[in-house]
Amino acid sequence: MAADLEGVVATSTRLSHVDGEAGRLTIAGYAVEDLAPYARFEEVAFLLLYARLPDPSELARFTQDLAGRRALPRAGFDVLRAAAAAQAPPMDVLRMAAALLSLGRQENPLDDALTAIACFPTIVGAYWRVRNGEAPVPVRPDLPHAAHYLQQVFGAEPSAERARALETYLNTVCDHGLNASTFAARVIVSTRSDVISAITGAVGALKGPLHGGAPGPALDMVFEIGTPERAEPVIRAKLDRGERLMGFGHRIYRVRDPRADVLAQAAQRFYSSGGDQSLYELAQQVEATALRLLRERKPERRLDTNVEFYTALLLHGLGFPSALFTPTFAVGRVVGWSAHCLEQLREGRLIRPQSAYVGPTDLHYDRGTRHTRSQ
Ligand code: CMC
Repeated sequence: MAADLEGVVATSTRLSHVDGEAGRLTIAGYAVEDLAPYARFEEVAFLLLYARLPDPSELARFTQDLAGRRALPRAGFDVLRAAAAAQAPPMDVLRMAAALLSLGRQENPLDDALTAIACFPTIVGAYWRVRNGEAPVPVRPDLPHAAHYLQQVFGAEPSAERARALETYLNTVCDHGLNASTFAARVIVSTRSDVISAITGAVGALKGPLHGGAPGPALDMVFEIGTPERAEPVIRAKLDRGERLMGFGHRIYRVRDPRADVLAQAAQRFYSSGGDQSLYELAQQVEATALRLLRERKPERRLDTNVEFYTALLLHGLGFPSALFTPTFAVGRVVGWSAHCLEQLREGRLIRPQSAYVGPTDLHYDRGTRHTRSQ
């Protein structure tokens, strides 16, 4: 058995299915491309938490419930200020502040999940403002979730077009099978620990560049290349140095990640209506060159574009600094973590795999010398 669990089915879920050969992502029954660009974030969150889309009155109640949970505990702001003084990375701050969401509340799985989903935009937005010497803006219960996140970060109510582009992104990344952070959340809650603990652990897992930390470096590569004719020499040099190209390759997908298509279309719409169209075109050329060179270098391993490449482009177009790309991924993915925790608590057992021991077995502890020796 692979030590990294590649190919191992570790649980069953009704939440999402990743078909890596066909390049299809199904979210609670719906193809990601049918759902993400059109549904409200609140509809998708309801779908994952309750396994069906809400009717209009349920959607209104759910939207209001989430909006009523946006304010952080007072201690949260103390942490944000201390973290800003230390210039802490936003993902570390999200992890610290997420842990505080259980403060002063009775433990309750659904309640914890809704509070985390509602508060993540407030944490990220307020921290970013404090870190940049600006005052956090008050929460706005009247705004939909995606618009509220933009308001928390940028301080003003966004246009409908910007809110829609972000909503498409959040819906696209809301859940993705048993990815590393979701698995981490399920393992934690499988011990009957609480949902806030599980979400806090999942934030830590998402932070790594092999999972949620790739879009910043992916955009850096596009900027480093700068002009189309530099794409080939710069990418060749990276591959010669043994570097991985961020935004390419996936453990499950052997074809193009379908989320990349959804986000590429959203980015194209957004950039063609007033964004930096030349950046979008440069990114397309970088993508084509990267794919060609990856095929040349690794003909045996199909490496295609993953979600992070166009995430970077879309979030940059929306004005997000690259330091907020991974926290914004968390603002979307916290829905999936929450739904997986609830499913695990309802249906799962303790997740406790075995390890293959490959260490020595013949050592003896010498009580006299307090040294070990082999027999
Ligand atoms: N650029 C260059 N070479 C690569 C890349 C890449 N992006 N991805 C894999 N390879 C090579 C790798 O070096 C290895 O070569 P070799 O056999 O000579 O050592 C071979 O392809 C197989 O790689 P692997 O490590 O077995 O593949 P994996 O399934 O463990 O890795 C991955 C999946 C996503 C970690 C990897 O493709 C990668 O590091 N990509 C760049 C980081 C990135 O874009 N991460 C975001 C993932 S999508 C978001 C999410 O869903 O979490």
